[in-house]
Amino acid sequence: MNITARPISQIHPLIATRVSPNIFSCRPVSTPDLLALFEAARWSASAGNEQPWSYLVATRAQTEQFERMLSFIDPVNLPWARLASVLVIGCARLTLEHTGAAYATAEHDLGLASANLVFEATARGLGVHQMTRIDRDSIRASFRIPQHVGVISMLAIGYAEEHSAATNDLRHTRSPLRSRKPLESFVFSES
Ligand SMILES: Cc1cc2nc3c(=O)[nH]c(=O)nc-3n(C[C@H](O)[C@H](O)[C@H](O)COP(=O)(O)O)c2cc1C
Repeated sequence: MNITARPISQIHPLIATRVSPNIFSCRPVSTPDLLALFEAARWSASAGNEQPWSYLVATRAQTEQFERMLSFIDPVNLPWARLASVLVIGCARLTLEHTGAAYATAEHDLGLASANLVFEATARGLGVHQMTRIDRDSIRASFRIPQHVGVISMLAIGYAEEHSAATNDLRHTRSPLRSRKPLESFVFSES
C-alpha cells in the first residue's frame, strides 16, 4: 500500500511505511510467515518477563473458526476485516503469574508483543489492521476465556492490496494523507 508517513525526523522505514490496510488480497499467509509473527511477539519485552499475552488464531482456510471470529467484529470493521487472511484475538493475563496480584502493565505488554508482531509482518510484506470495535463479552463466552484474562483486541492480517474490482468502494475510505499530533503535544519535560 502506497501510503507512507511523512515523519519530521528520520525514522526506520518499517515504522514509516507501516499502515493499517483496509483492503486485503485473498493471498494466504504461509505457515512459516504466520509462525514468525508469533515468534516476534514471543520475544517482546514485558514487566518481570511475565509474558501476559495470548492469541487465538483463525486462518481463512479454517472456515468455521474464521466465520466464528468474524461474528465478533463490529459491522463497521467487516468490509475490510472479512478480506483478511488471518484473524487473531489478542488477550492479556491481568494478574501476575506467581502471586495473582494485579498486573499493572498487562495490556501495555500485550501491546508491545502485538507491535513486535506488526513490525515482523511489515518486514514480510504483510499488513495488520488492529481492532477495538469487537464484541468482547461474546468472545469471552465463546472461547471460555477466564475472568483474569482480558479480551483486548483483534488483528486482521493479510497482504494489503491497492484496490480491486471487488473492493472499489473501500479504496475511498482512507485518506492518502496520514496525520499525527505534533511532538510538542505529547512530549513534555517540566510539567
Ligand atoms: C488497538 C487498536 C485498535 C484499533 N481499532 C480499530 C477499529 O476498531 N476500527 C478501525 O477501523 N481501525 C482501528 N484501528 C486502526 C487505527 O484507526 C489506526 O491505527 C490509526 O487510524 C492510524 O492509522 P495507521 O495505523 O494506518 O497509521 C485500531 C488500531 C489499534 C492500535
